[in-house]
Amino acid sequence: MAVYLDNNATTALDEEVLEAMLPYMGQVAGNPSSVHRFGRLQKSAIEQARESVAQLAGARADQVIFTSGGTESNNLLLHGFCNSLSNDLSNDMRRQIDKQGGDTRIAISAIEHMSLLEPAQHIMQKTAFDVDVIAVDEAGYITSSAVTQVMTEQTSLISVMSANNETGVIQDLSPLITLAKENNCFFHTDASQAAGKIPLDFTASGVHAMTFSAHKLYGPVGAGALILDKQLPITKLQFGGSQENNLRAGTENVPAIVGFGKAAELALSNLRDRSSHSLGLRDALERGLKEFSAVTVFAQTTNRLPNTVQFGVAGFSGETLLMQLDRKAIAVSSGSACTSEKTEPSHVLKAMNIPDELANSAIRVSFGKNNTMSDVDAFITALNDIIEINRHSAVMMAASV
Ligand SMILES: Cc1ncc(COP(=O)(O)O)c(C=O)c1O
Repeated sequence: MAVYLDNNATTALDEEVLEAMLPYMGQVAGNPSSVHRFGRLQKSAIEQARESVAQLAGARADQVIFTSGGTESNNLLLHGFCNSLSNDLSNDMRRQIDKQGGDTRIAISAIEHMSLLEPAQHIMQKTAFDVDVIAVDEAGYITSSAVTQVMTEQTSLISVMSANNETGVIQDLSPLITLAKENNCFFHTDASQAAGKIPLDFTASGVHAMTFSAHKLYGPVGAGALILDKQLPITKLQFGGSQENNLRAGTENVPAIVGFGKAAELALSNLRDRSSHSLGLRDALERGLKEFSAVTVFAQTTNRLPNTVQFGVAGFSGETLLMQLDRKAIAVSSGSACTSEKTEPSHVLKAMNIPDELANSAIRVSFGKNNTMSDVDAFITALNDIIEINRHSAVMMAASV
C-alpha cells in the first residue's frame, strides 16, 4: 500500500464532501445569477457554503469572496489593492495612505508562498509601487522588529502568512497587526495552510484580508476564498458579471464552492480531533528521527502546525531522497511541492539562514486525517533503509579505491 505524506501539497477529497458536491455536478441545473427557481437553488447552495467558510474563518458571510483557490486569492488581493490605489487617485483612503507623497509601498514576508511573492515581484517591476521584503529569523518567525525595519511612511499593506507550508511555523500575528494599525497599514494573511489545522478568528484578529484554499482541507481543487474587510480598497481583476460582490466576474463554480463549504464545516467541527491526531503522528515521527544522527529538524522548537515536519538529511539531496522514498511507495515533498521541479534550495530555508547544503537535503512530511501510526513506521523504516544502503555503498566505494 502506498503511503501519502504530502497533505500540505493537497489533501484527498473527503467522501462527505464529494457526496455534497454530486447533486450540483449535473443533476441540478441552473445558473446562480438566474432569478428562476433553478437559479435560486444554486444561489442558496453558494450562500450556505459562504456561511460555512465564514464560520471557519471567524468572519461574516458577506466578507467571503469565492475564488478558484489560494493563488487567485493572493493575486486578487495584491493586484486588486494596488490597482485600486493607483486607479482612484481622488479616493480619501488613497490620500490618507499616501501621507507624504511619493511611491506607495507594500511589505511582504520573505517566506510567503510563490503565489504572493511572484505577483509582488511583478507589481514592483511594472508599477509605481515598491515592495519591501520582511526578514525571517532563524527560528522561522517574522518579528515586530523585522517589520519595523522595512516599514516607512509610505507602507500601505503588510502581508505575513499565518503558517508556512514548508516548515509549518505558525506566526504570532497579533503584534504585527497592532504595528500595522498604528501605522495606518492594511494587513493581509495567507491562511491557506493554517485553515482547518489551527483556530482562526478573522474578526478578533483585526486583519483586513485572509486567503483560503479548499484543497488543503479535504475540499476540491479549484475553490478558495479571499476574506475581506470592506475597509480595504480593492478593485476586481476580472471583468464581466457582478458576481462575488462585484469582485470576481464569472459564473460561479457551484459544485466546487459547495464542496468547499462542506469541507469547511467538517474542518471546524473536527478541528480539535484532526489536530491532536496529526500531533500524535508528528511527535512519533520526530521521536523516530532523533535516532538518525544525519537528520536536522527545521524550526523544531518553534510553534508549528501539528501536521508538518521538515528536516534535512546530511549527505543527501532532497530530490534523491524523495525519489528513493517514492520507489518505496512513500510520497513526501522536498521543500515546497509547488516549486519541486527546481533544484535550488527552498527560499524559505534560505531566508532562515539554513546552509545551502542542508537546505538542499530538505524533506517535508505533512500528515493528514487519513494517516496512521503504521505510516510513520513505514516512513522511518524506509528512511533507515535508504540511509543504510547509501552508507554501505559509500563504504564499498572507499574500499575499492
Ligand atoms: C501557503 C499557500 N498559499 C497559497 C497556496 C496556493 O493555493 P492553491 O493551490 O489553492 O492555488 C498554497 C499551495 O500550496 C500554499 O501552501
